[in-house]
Amino acid sequence: MRTPGDLRPLAPVVRGAGVKLIVQVTNLDEARQAVDAGADVIVAQGTEAGGHSGKAGRSTMSFVPVVADLAAPTPVLAAGGIADGRGIAAALALGAAGALIGTRFLATPESLADSSVQEAILDSNGEQTERSSVLDIVRDTGWPREYLARTVRHPVIDQGRGREDELAADRAARPAYQRAVDRGELPPVPVWASQAIDLITDIRPAADLVGDLVREAESALARVNRGQ
Ligand SMILES: Cc1cc2nc3c(=O)[nH]c(=O)nc-3n(C[C@H](O)[C@H](O)[C@H](O)COP(=O)(O)O)c2cc1C
Repeated sequence: MRTPGDLRPLAPVVRGAGVKLIVQVTNLDEARQAVDAGADVIVAQGTEAGGHSGKAGRSTMSFVPVVADLAAPTPVLAAGGIADGRGIAAALALGAAGALIGTRFLATPESLADSSVQEAILDSNGEQTERSSVLDIVRDTGWPREYLARTVRHPVIDQGRGREDELAADRAARPAYQRAVDRGELPPVPVWASQAIDLITDIRPAADLVGDLVREAESALARVNRGQ
């Protein structure tokens, strides 16, 4: 059986399909593995990220430069908590070749996210997000427990916080969660979202968003150059 997080069996499959091997890493061991596997691009992901992130609890600010040094000359992208051009400029200053942005693109018309997810992102702030394994346990997703998922606050997380082992052993917990979703008592899906959601204030077409991100990054870099 494949060890979770072990990329060795997957790397040849990706290469065999003739596509670039892009590996997202959350700690130094994973970063070294990605270099050893000859990754074309390495994504250094901090725990500010929406969705699943690493057991080591690394934050983007301190993790990206370490991975950039370790992986050079392989290009490294910064991920986690970047939702505007200032974040991209910061990623470049940290030694990244660019940024991988997730949550910001949920707030676009092109996103397949449920409208309830988009509304929750627009209405919430970073302090209303939390990393937890509770929703993976009750949804039976199979994610290894050490990879926590950052979501907007959720009543089931409030009930299960600190009781993860008990929940995992409770066979009634999963059907009970599903029944509550079916009855409309719980949101249809967890809102996986970044700590940077404070910066997400509108739904904007993805092409406009990309243009705005580039302009904002250029202006942030120019401002820093001018020393203002
Ligand atoms: C809705 C959503 C689903 C995600 N699913 C996964 C996933 O299945 N596996 C994974 O490694 N990362 C996942 N991520 C994390 C992204 O790959 C990326 O690292 C993250 O979105 C970057 O941080 P940001 O959300 O602050 O931009 C997900 C992120 C979001 C927002």
